Amino acid sequence: MNRIKLPVHVAFIMDGNGRWARRHFRPRSYGHRAGVQNMTKVCTHAFRLGVRIVTVYALSAENLSRPKEELDDLFELIRLYFGKKRDKLLEMQVKINVLGDISVLPPDVQADILSVAEETAGFTGGLFNICLNYGARQEIVRAVNAAVACGRFVDEESFKDLLSTAGVPDPDLIIRTGGEVRLSNFLLYQAAYSELYFSKRMWPEFSKRDLERAIENYSARDRRFGNIRRG
Ligand code: IPE
Ligand code: IPE
Ligand code: MG
Repeated sequence: MNRIKLPVHVAFIMDGNGRWARRHFRPRSYGHRAGVQNMTKVCTHAFRLGVRIVTVYALSAENLSRPKEELDDLFELIRLYFGKKRDKLLEMQVKINVLGDISVLPPDVQADILSVAEETAGFTGGLFNICLNYGARQEIVRAVNAAVACGRFVDEESFKDLLSTAGVPDPDLIIRTGGEVRLSNFLLYQAAYSELYFSKRMWPEFSKRDLERAIENYSARDRRFGNIRRG
């Protein structure tokens, strides 16, 4: 990883938990558990490499249409990681921020999420955004309504301040595991000039080395932002 141009902000679409579990002849819930474990491992590594901001897509707004049994499992995992196992998150020594509409979660889980955010607010090791019940279109519509409600016009920059990522630079690199080549309603406004990287690995098996490969690949790209290459 020498002489590598590091992304400041890396976002992950952590897909493939269910298929990974099926390949191991286990229920989907087993895949989600392995997925959360891998999330702390890979994201900790990202911060260790020097990435300052990591955003993970943990639960989309559309995922709420999944069967009740699966949602119960997912909510239980969220309860565990912001409750009993919160140390796993705190160990990362980074500021934790949850994006998305958490009002669908049980009140005690919402309270745990807020307390983890408060507890980590002073941590300076980086910023870790966890997207729960997040949808980019919903976020954009909410922002438009907020602008309309205060009767003001927006420009590109002031519109950004109405999004849940206000104050956070756009992701430089978005990594999606699981083999699908789409964004699935993730950070649609913020991803305008993100570099996209798709891995066939299922999320629970995406390793630290895979992350390094993705960053090396990013590092070799020429980001022109519509301009022409100079020099
Ligand atoms: C991603 O894994 C995690 C969530 C969406 C909650 P999936 O559950 O979508 O796993 P696959 O895509 O079915 O394998
Ligand atoms: C995207 O994965 C959402 C998360 C990883 C949280 P999905 O499994 O929901 O995406 P689709 O349905 O394949 O587009
Ligand atoms: Mg999926």
